[in-house]
Amino acid sequence: MTPEPSLTGMPASGWRQYEIEQRLHELLASDPPLHTGWPDTLWPVLPDKALSASRAAMSQFAHLNGFVKPSGLDVIEAELLAMVRDHLGVPEDGATTLTVGGTESNFLAVKGALFKARENGGVTGQPNMVIPETAHPSFDKASEELGIDVRRIPVGKEFRADPEAMANQIDENTVLLVASTPNYTHGTLDPVEDLAALAQTHDLWFHIDACVGGCLLPALKRVAGESSTTPFDYPGVTSVSADLHKFGFTPTGISTLSVNSSELIRHHSFSIDVASSWPFRPYRRTGFTGSRSGAVLAGAWATLVALGQDGYEQIAQEIVSGADIFAKGLSTIDGFELVAPHESGIIVFTSTDPQCQIERVANVLERNGWPAMLAVSPPRLQFLLSPLPPHYYEQFVEAIRVAANEVRTGVAIDGAELTTYGA
Ligand SMILES: Cc1ncc(COP(=O)(O)O)c(C=O)c1O
Repeated sequence: MTPEPSLTGMPASGWRQYEIEQRLHELLASDPPLHTGWPDTLWPVLPDKALSASRAAMSQFAHLNGFVKPSGLDVIEAELLAMVRDHLGVPEDGATTLTVGGTESNFLAVKGALFKARENGGVTGQPNMVIPETAHPSFDKASEELGIDVRRIPVGKEFRADPEAMANQIDENTVLLVASTPNYTHGTLDPVEDLAALAQTHDLWFHIDACVGGCLLPALKRVAGESSTTPFDYPGVTSVSADLHKFGFTPTGISTLSVNSSELIRHHSFSIDVASSWPFRPYRRTGFTGSRSGAVLAGAWATLVALGQDGYEQIAQEIVSGADIFAKGLSTIDGFELVAPHESGIIVFTSTDPQCQIERVANVLERNGWPAMLAVSPPRLQFLLSPLPPHYYEQFVEAIRVAANEVRTGVAIDGAELTTYGA
């Protein structure tokens, strides 16, 4: 049961350490354990190695601020950037900026596209961006802040972006084209190569939102024996956002935006000199935020070096095996099927049996303590795969079988409510 908040203001006298720990323990205990949890609906479960390395690093760097970096953090940031650039194939002349999350990374890409188009004198009317309907709402958020129209275009087969339909919506005021690898809604990869070519034809900024897949896809490709293409291998890709705090398994609060040319960085940098207005010192910052947690930087660095390429490959292998076990198991339950192929750590499934609506299955699963992230269009359940031993997935399938039987034979089970995603 979720505990109730008990403080209504600052305590009159400070708590003892054991009281703090006791309370924190109580609050944590109301959630499923992080590292031994079930397959999750929101974030992947952390491998033990990543958890212990990042915790140790974070406690050492707890109070450092990455805004005015002490030299040790400077090295950490430089090495982190080098690892990310290598991972994503950022060109020599490109640049990578650390951000606090995917929303900031996507915001900076939208801002870059708008400012570059303005600079080129290319926007005479109301600017717009053309994005697949499956793209993350962070693009709408950025558009609201920056005054750009959003054209969400229906997707095609397997919920992938439809380049032809997107091409039809491009006009002289379009400043940005977006693809997701993968989209969060269905877990499939948009056709990046075709969209990159389309962007080149129209001389548009093309952004790949790889917030979910950026860290995992290279390892998934390697374990599948495929040649390791990186997002920047396609000419026409201008920028890529990749979160470390999703399938990079780092602590929350860190993502990246990479651009194919370092001269584009000026569009998401801000500076003010002494003469203009601020009576202190010249100010310069790349990205949107000011202060940045040194603990998160150090925790992310420690996670990446603790896992290494082989660690990510092992995770990728476990995720692929988990997906296989899950898909095979699901196919043995009457009326159940995957909604889209598994490609990137996200699995979506549904029931086609009218006697066993997925909304009602979700309700029973949730009641029984299983993850059940209900989504619409079409109705389905979505969850993120984690590097967990096979028996977790086997038990999850059995839980779905039990829930399906209960719905088919149950007297009155309501459908789960479609609650807001985020708060
Ligand atoms: C595809 C995609 N892009 C961007 C984001 C936003 O990331 P964040 O929550 O780190 O701001 C998400 C979050 O789930 C996402 O799935």
